[in-house]
Amino acid sequence: MDTLQDMGTFKVVPIDGALGARIEGLDRATATRPDVAAGLRKALGDHLLLEVPGMPMTPAEMRDFSSAFGRFRPQLLRYKRTSEVPEVSVMVSTLMADGTTDKTALRSEDWHTDDSYMATPAKATLLHAIEIPSSGGNTWFCNMRAAYEALPEATRKRIDGMRAIHGYDTARARNRPSARTAQEIAETPDVEHPLVRTHPDNGRKALYLNFNRLDHIVGLDRAESDTLLDELAEHCRQPRFHFAHEWTVGDCVIWDNRATMHRVDVDYPMGERRIMQRVLIEGDRPF
Ligand code: OGA
Ligand code: MN
Repeated sequence: MDTLQDMGTFKVVPIDGALGARIEGLDRATATRPDVAAGLRKALGDHLLLEVPGMPMTPAEMRDFSSAFGRFRPQLLRYKRTSEVPEVSVMVSTLMADGTTDKTALRSEDWHTDDSYMATPAKATLLHAIEIPSSGGNTWFCNMRAAYEALPEATRKRIDGMRAIHGYDTARARNRPSARTAQEIAETPDVEHPLVRTHPDNGRKALYLNFNRLDHIVGLDRAESDTLLDELAEHCRQPRFHFAHEWTVGDCVIWDNRATMHRVDVDYPMGERRIMQRVLIEGDRPF
């Protein structure tokens, strides 16, 4: 049973839901102090998702805050990197009627984990609200540790040890991804990952799925692979594994990509600006 943890300079208040905790009373400028950073990383490992309310941060302030969680990895798509602080990218998911919108939102509309098309995907992502629409635009999170543990034992036995191919695009995805430059294409060949991954910090297993990138399971024919992936997807779509973060400007949310999926609700008014700053934290090879 979760209890409120007092980390000295801040409080970790578990969310009454499938995952997550709210960090209260933290002065973000202190986050890089070794004791504070260690407390934040422990809270992230325990709860998989942290909500850190506060004032909007400049890209440089966000870079400094993010370093409490690990080293940065730059975002693949160059055009999203901010010029002054390349570690921090800007995600514009404003919906435009004329179709000129950045398609980030549409691609993020279905459940995914960041960067699984990379051999070493980002272990965590920080998203920071700069401008939000007047309604809607929640970000949803799915606890993939809980989803794995809730599978029937026979399914867990069947899928443990299976490997899957992730690509930048797959016919299984609902929406097409952003275009890549020739250099970005060269950097993103298909990769293979375990279907069930073990968390390096605590040894706990989680399903490692991505509805936008996971193309097929190694060693199964297409029909068999699709059937199994559809079955696992349906399992993960159950609301009991989900929690929605409702944004307030200045919020910074951090999630663990190794044991969660996320998606955005594309239900906000056309033309209203939705702008987030984003940082990816370097991970390790899934096993
Ligand atoms: C992301 C993402 C969702 C959102 O930044 O990786 O999926 O709510 N964002 O903008
Ligand atoms: Mn994402």
